[in-house]
Amino acid sequence: MLSIDPLTKPPSIDLKLPGSKSITNRALVLAALAKGTSTLHRALFAEDTLAMIDCLRKLGVNIATDELNEEIVVTGCAGQLRSNGDPLWVRQSGTTARFIMPLAALAQTEVLINGDPQILKRPHGELFDVLKKMGVEIRFEGEENHLPARINGAALHVEKLHVNVEQSSQYLSALLLSAPCMPNDMALSLDGDAVSMPYLQMTLSMMNTFGASVEEVKKNQFHIRASGYKAKDYEIEPDASTASYFFATAALSKGRVKVEGLGKASIQGDIEFVDLLEQMGAEVTRNEQAIEVRGTDVLQGVHASMKNFSDTAPTLAVIAPSASTPSSVSGIGFIAYKESDRIAAVVTELQKLGIEAEDNGDGFTIQPGTVKPGIVHTYDDHRIAMAFTVLGLISNGVTLDDPECVAKTAPDFFEYVDQLRLEGDQELAILAIDGPAGSGKTSLAKRIANETGLEYLDTGAMYRSVAAKVIEEGIDPEDKELVIAIANRISIVFEGEEVFVEGDRLTDTIRSPQVNAVVSYVAANPGVRSILRRAQRSWARKRGGGVLEGRDIGTVVFPQARLKVYVTATPEERAKRRSLESGRPMEEILQEITGRDKIDSSRMDSPLSISNDALMVDSTGKTIDEVAEEILSSFHV
Ligand code: DC
Repeated sequence: MLSIDPLTKPPSIDLKLPGSKSITNRALVLAALAKGTSTLHRALFAEDTLAMIDCLRKLGVNIATDELNEEIVVTGCAGQLRSNGDPLWVRQSGTTARFIMPLAALAQTEVLINGDPQILKRPHGELFDVLKKMGVEIRFEGEENHLPARINGAALHVEKLHVNVEQSSQYLSALLLSAPCMPNDMALSLDGDAVSMPYLQMTLSMMNTFGASVEEVKKNQFHIRASGYKAKDYEIEPDASTASYFFATAALSKGRVKVEGLGKASIQGDIEFVDLLEQMGAEVTRNEQAIEVRGTDVLQGVHASMKNFSDTAPTLAVIAPSASTPSSVSGIGFIAYKESDRIAAVVTELQKLGIEAEDNGDGFTIQPGTVKPGIVHTYDDHRIAMAFTVLGLISNGVTLDDPECVAKTAPDFFEYVDQLRLEGDQELAILAIDGPAGSGKTSLAKRIANETGLEYLDTGAMYRSVAAKVIEEGIDPEDKELVIAIANRISIVFEGEEVFVEGDRLTDTIRSPQVNAVVSYVAANPGVRSILRRAQRSWARKRGGGVLEGRDIGTVVFPQARLKVYVTATPEERAKRRSLESGRPMEEILQEITGRDKIDSSRMDSPLSISNDALMVDSTGKTIDEVAEEILSSFHV
């Protein structure tokens, strides 16, 4: 569950968003098939792209990733894919499922393709039919024309092919991407009225960049030479679909959002979404390097076909209730087969929130109205979760039942959303106290909270609560996914000195040596940090501020805190204090806290570090009163 805090001020921000999913997955395929080594810059690291990386590795491609620098280095196989016999797991990724099928055929041996339950429900019949015409043997493990399927391209040959593109353009993109590495030239004709044409253009333009020769012989007929690909240094554009949520927020809140690196010459069709915002009344500025949207006093309804940029249809759906006149979207019947039936999903959830909305089969109609509080079901669909977050930013009481599904294409989505709140967060009376274990932070925080009338939050106790549950449930603290699921599930409630986790009193348990031993591993898990950070920020917003203590409050949670303090003391003094509190031997504690300091300061995600503008306080040899006084002389509520 995630209750979305409404914006308290309109945003005004230049955003650097992560790379496009569609471009990253195409670039991975092209680089994998190319001759030579390619470097992909601003690559997206998300469920869908990790699925592609994983599948390509199983087809013998060497891929080195550097998530921190958003870089991927791919050693191309010059079209010579080899299966190591391992099944390919596409997770929930539609692009991976479709693009990998012809690639698996190129390996010319039996390859099993499988994935998460959601993808097993999505149809791929058209693509399987074309592959069969190419001599590929296909055996379905479950339902006909669905994954899991065994693909064997031992008898692969290429002829004149027809592909129907009424349901998804991904079938055609999949065949095109693989075509230059086929045994001979491919002639491809499109049947039907194609949906999502811009994605096809993206495929063709990227194939061209990687050195392929594709000729559009006449309209809807392509000739692709079997000439292979050449490696490239390739810069991926920021994700235009993800950008839609931020542009929409600007339009709805009369704020300003600029997305850098997404220019008017973008190869992503979803930038057309800002044209609709413009029609509705927003001000849009486009240049080569960026697109900026400014909200105005006018917001009127639109009637539009979104056939070419349907991924942003849920974004439009959440703007529509705020318009002065009704809106309707058409041409998108095919999005019923995406991660969820997206037309039904947006209509049902808007109705739940008191908005009049209608499913027209080919799209939806939405009436202006006021959103009432409610719990939105996200259908395990990232786009539904992200779109309704926008609604939560401008209305009271919108809660998502499962926010984590955003990880499919935007794992850091809520961190970016928090950037929209920077203006509002600046008004909060936040005192951030950071420092190593035993430096006296908790006593100080309590004391100062008392003096100032603010509440205090011991964020370490939140990491400890997750650790306690990990131990209770016998989970391996290094199993990232399971630990994240716990952090996501549990409720942590503080009542004075007491801590309740899922209703159980765990005040003493969270301070036990067992918890001390695993908490740093739990706290080094980026997924856990992201969930707890969100809760910490929300806690302070609901109270107009507070005294927060931990390791990353001044550096990451509230970098704009009114005052940041870094408290430290010698390791011996810290161990002595903890020994007096707990009655345990000082030597043992000294070892424990120096071990924890090391992990806390060296982890990748928000390590314990000193903010440049923090007030440094050495508490060695000082009383709490002395230190508190020092801090209070610089902090005013
Ligand atoms: O402050 P403490 O000793 O109760 O913290 C417990 C652990 O949680 C510690 O190893 C570091 C981690 N922690 C963190 O990483 N970030 C915070 N904001 C607070 C604590």
